[in-house]
Amino acid sequence: AKEQYHEFVIQEASVTRLCREHSIMTVNGQFPGPALEIDEGDSLIVRVINRGRYNVTVHWHGVRQMRTGWSDGPEYVTQCPIRPGQSYTYRFTVAGQEGTLWWHAHSSWLRATVHGALIIRPRAGVTAYPFDAAGEPPAREIPILLGEWWDMNPIDVVRTATRTGAAPNISDALTVNGQPGDLYRCSSKDTTTFPVKSGETNLLRFINAALNTELFVSLAGHTMTVVGADASYTKPYSTSVLMIAPGQTTDVLVTFDQPPGRYYLAARAYASAQGVPFDNTTTTAIFDYSSSSSSGSRSPAMPTLPAYNDTATATTFTTNLRGLRKAELPSRVDENLFFTVGVGLFNCSRGQTCGGPNNTRFAASMNNVSFVLPSTVSILQAHYGGAQQGVFTADFPANPPVQFDYTAQNVSRALWQPAPGTKVYRLKYGAAVQLVLQGTNIFAGENHPIHIHGYDFYILAEGFGNFDAATDTAKFNLDDPPMRNTVGVPVNGWAVIRFVADNPGVWLMHCHLDVHITWGLAMAFLVEDGVGELQSLEAPPPDLPLC
Ligand code: C2O
Repeated sequence: AKEQYHEFVIQEASVTRLCREHSIMTVNGQFPGPALEIDEGDSLIVRVINRGRYNVTVHWHGVRQMRTGWSDGPEYVTQCPIRPGQSYTYRFTVAGQEGTLWWHAHSSWLRATVHGALIIRPRAGVTAYPFDAAGEPPAREIPILLGEWWDMNPIDVVRTATRTGAAPNISDALTVNGQPGDLYRCSSKDTTTFPVKSGETNLLRFINAALNTELFVSLAGHTMTVVGADASYTKPYSTSVLMIAPGQTTDVLVTFDQPPGRYYLAARAYASAQGVPFDNTTTTAIFDYSSSSSSGSRSPAMPTLPAYNDTATATTFTTNLRGLRKAELPSRVDENLFFTVGVGLFNCSRGQTCGGPNNTRFAASMNNVSFVLPSTVSILQAHYGGAQQGVFTADFPANPPVQFDYTAQNVSRALWQPAPGTKVYRLKYGAAVQLVLQGTNIFAGENHPIHIHGYDFYILAEGFGNFDAATDTAKFNLDDPPMRNTVGVPVNGWAVIRFVADNPGVWLMHCHLDVHITWGLAMAFLVEDGVGELQSLEAPPPDLPLC
């Protein structure tokens, strides 16, 4: 296995989108940021140098980070932010994972522009692409980052919302590799174009890097065969539409077997929440294998995308994914957890005016706890140093404090008023964990893409309504469940996941819609070491930033 060294300089760059010039935060002046390409088993050493004007951290989304928790990146969870003028070096090995992951800033809303692909290829002589009989790589591999663009500084968008308690502005465009495409003002000439060859089969590596928008994706005239998701292989699944939630990746084979020409790839929102505003625009890119100037001058064919609220199509897609191989699951369950996930409202403090509905502030929670980041030290540092007092408490509840019909419309808000807190749930090293994630409908039911740091997990089942152990347990797929790092908990429904707590450290779990993590839809697992606590997690690196 090799070791790769990279320098990521966080710096401002000027770009023009939607007719206006903006100064945005980037890595090395690139937007989207540089793609990292490695082989399974390789190590990465990435020195992040902050020459920008905001605090920043970088997270390697989906990388297991076995015993390298100091390199995971979420601010105030595993490290304090890298301040302007400072630097920090992340060191980790990517083992046992193949496919597409990504990296992104994990600080405020900087990830809107600070993100890039992390591509993990099979290691020559050791592993091979499973979808080719000879294990040969596809003719071409194309990383496709889907994103979201605001016509103002995204940091200002979230700051304004946090101050008033209101919902932040929705984005002004969706993007493919940083470009909105033909359907937006002033954007046509910069539309992302992928030149491809007639007859070839290519591997498209989709990453949903949008902040708040789940996306339907289609390619006009072409069938897509899903072969992987979140850097785990799936059984080949052919479809005309993908649904990718923020945080998720999907690897797809496409054969360019249509009449030579130009074909639109298009993406637009899957918006599951009723009455909640969303970016209702459509981003496009062009796949071009026109053979002559005549087929190249015709306007590209447009795919049909599902309606924005087509939950049936979204659910069909996600529930049809199966793990390529048989699951390796322990037969026992040591920790049986039930966490509610949802958006609620805080009362406005006395004498204040708040921007949420009926003079409230938006809040979101898991098991009624609205997560608050510490500010003086990270949770991992406090735990490692044995100085957790005043930083966090280990009393995150294993079950919701109140039982009621979680998915009913118009439940009384009094039933469910979240309490702010920095609480972790302690897991014994090696524990087999089953976690029911139950969506709630206090403010509005919504599909929540829940992401766990430091772990992949199996998705055993999902469904609508309230999870009922008596009947729903029979639906568990213990044979070939998909393995992912981000699961979409269906709107007004539930998902059940399983993992073994084999990675000591402090691991954030949160909704990957940034507006929800801003409102507190997060918690952290503290996974102990087998012997004493964290004895085999190495000491913090000397350059770990302090608060
Ligand atoms: Cu991709 Cu905590 O994030």
